[in-house]
Amino acid sequence: MLLEVDKLTTGYTRVPVLEDVSIAVETGQFVSIVGPNGAGKSTLFKAISGIVTPFSGSIRFEGRDLATVPAEQRPHLGIAHVPEGRQVFASLSVLENLELGAYTQAGRQNWKRNLERIYALMPVLAERRDQLAGTLSGGEQQMVAIGRGLASEPKLLMLDEPSMGLAPAIADFIFEKLIEIRQETKLTILLVEQRVAEALESADRGYVLEAGHVVLEGGVQALRANDRIRQAYLGM
Ligand SMILES: Nc1ncnc2c1ncn2[C@@H]1O[C@H](COP(=O)(O)OP(=O)(O)O)[C@@H](O)[C@H]1O
Ligand SMILES: [Mg+2]
Repeated sequence: MLLEVDKLTTGYTRVPVLEDVSIAVETGQFVSIVGPNGAGKSTLFKAISGIVTPFSGSIRFEGRDLATVPAEQRPHLGIAHVPEGRQVFASLSVLENLELGAYTQAGRQNWKRNLERIYALMPVLAERRDQLAGTLSGGEQQMVAIGRGLASEPKLLMLDEPSMGLAPAIADFIFEKLIEIRQETKLTILLVEQRVAEALESADRGYVLEAGHVVLEGGVQALRANDRIRQAYLGM
């Protein structure tokens, strides 16, 4: 197992936002976590990347308990967190944004090769390498954010709502890119999404997070056939 979150309870104040949340991600898998706004999806990612601290429960990466690993060390272990809202550096060029992702040991060592791969996967980033990231469209900025994650040469790529704020056609394009990135790089992907149909279509396994609890989990075929998901999330 690459990532194991076991009975995680955490939050920002004393009131827990996540309660007893357990998820597992195997190496090479594409796992989607879906659920409504405010369910705690981003908080789960923040716990995995070390921005919020568990009240109880554990997070293991490659079998190692992350409790004593500070947030700034986790990218070096191979955890890349592409945050909600992209957060690209608007006044830096595309290339400079990608370079900033390559600060990990593996990322520095293989920067040239990784940059070529990123450009091959997302040619628009090569075309616009010298353009300021702030002048790009939302979809292009999302690709910069994904590229920045890839530049760290992660073992686990965590993507928090990459489709947020994008027109449906652009969001579809980003989902297709994720499938392509997965095929080309064999990377393990953990995706958080409100666009449930697309998120479950791309993935192997899924979890439904509601009000801080995992209420359903399983293979995506079973989830897509589930009556509750069909009614609540797929509008059927
Ligand atoms: N920085 C924060 N401080 C306090 N509460 C927060 C903070 N960020 C999120 N929350 C609260 O935690 C809950 C879950 O938020 P979040 O993890 O962002 O949900 P999601 O990503 O599923 O929309 C919400 O009730 C939200 O208001
Ligand atoms: Mg969120």
